[in-house]
Amino acid sequence: MKIENFTEMYVAELQELASVENQLSELLLEMAEVASNQDLKNALADHREQTLVHLERLETLLTQHRAKAEHTDQAMQALANETRKMAEIVEGNELRDAALIASAQKLEHYMIAAYGTAAALAGQLDLRDDQKTLHQTLEEEMNADALLTRIAKSAVNPAASAHS
Ligand SMILES: [Fe+2]
Repeated sequence: MKIENFTEMYVAELQELASVENQLSELLLEMAEVASNQDLKNALADHREQTLVHLERLETLLTQHRAKAEHTDQAMQALANETRKMAEIVEGNELRDAALIASAQKLEHYMIAAYGTAAALAGQLDLRDDQKTLHQTLEEEMNADALLTRIAKSAVNPAASAHS
């Protein structure tokens, strides 16, 4: 597919985001499964629920632009593989939880960058409703990231580093 104008480029960003959220919804299930700390388990499971809502929002936007979620984001595939690999090789529940948070925050930051970009493109195209929707999701991603920081700092990282 060739991208020939700014609107098409914006829609391609939405397709990329839909793929990222789609892959993340699978990955978060696996991560919540292997997490030990209850707060972390809940945060990952809650964010998984939120991810489904985010995906729905993107699908609505794509439908409005007469496009489908048909792209596979390879950057997300790579991040997901790294996350799975890390969770597998880390020994011990406390250390694994710390690694899960580190991975989850890298994923979150990727999403924050992608939503920020998509929202900026929507603004440039004067698609104010799109921009509002994307900002709403962006804010929820930032809240999810902040919650992970709190869990890391308050419990998971102190417990994991007690064995260094
Ligand atoms: Fe999301």
